Amino acid sequence: MKNLVILISGRGSNMVAIADACAAEGWDARIAAVISNRPDAAGLDHARAQGIATAVVNHRDFDGREAFDTALAQVIDGFSPDLVLLAGFMRILTPGFVQRYAGRMLNIHPSLLPAFPGLHTHRRAIEAGCKLAGTTVHVVTPELDHGPIVAQAVVAVRPDDTEDTLATRVLAMEHRMYPQAVRWWVDGLLDHTDDGRIVLRTGESQLLMDGAPDNPGDAP
Ligand code: GAR
Repeated sequence: MKNLVILISGRGSNMVAIADACAAEGWDARIAAVISNRPDAAGLDHARAQGIATAVVNHRDFDGREAFDTALAQVIDGFSPDLVLLAGFMRILTPGFVQRYAGRMLNIHPSLLPAFPGLHTHRRAIEAGCKLAGTTVHVVTPELDHGPIVAQAVVAVRPDDTEDTLATRVLAMEHRMYPQAVRWWVDGLLDHTDDGRIVLRTGESQLLMDGAPDNPGDAP
């Protein structure tokens, strides 16, 4: 049974999607804890309501990133994590923290990486005239919003899209994609290629498209 520790900063809807899928699909895993850097994160209430252990490590209580990351790692390690999941965790991580969980920490970022790392991804995609937008699950490396891609989901950008309407459609895709990607990891189905990419051993598609079945590779 794998221990999953999920880090959030706010709403926590991706965390809920993962917890729901874990329970509904009977993964060989449990949500050991949900940890937030913000005491008022709404996702903490959702986790508590599901009987999941929660903790807060408030970044405002620390002088600098190193001290915060050290304290955060202590709390995370108290839950014996096999996998750490960043789900709307809005902190820049120190290299030492990333190294500690190397190969066992995933992030979801709301753009088609390597396009648009950082903030305001949907606004930037619309302003750039992109016809496609989406979201990426990747292995965390020291470079922000960078690292081997586990899965991507795409949505079309509509001519009348606002930041909010695009974000809503992308979020719906995140709720399908992130649990799927975590399950691949839990089931040991992800392989590293020699050149640093991640492939799915089953040959299923790692691309999710709006309106398409979850695993296009499985489609007849
Ligand atoms: C998600 O859209 C996620 O991709 C994004 O924050 C949102 C969190 O929503 N993450 C980032 O921007 C990280 N760079 P949630 O709290 O409802 O899961």
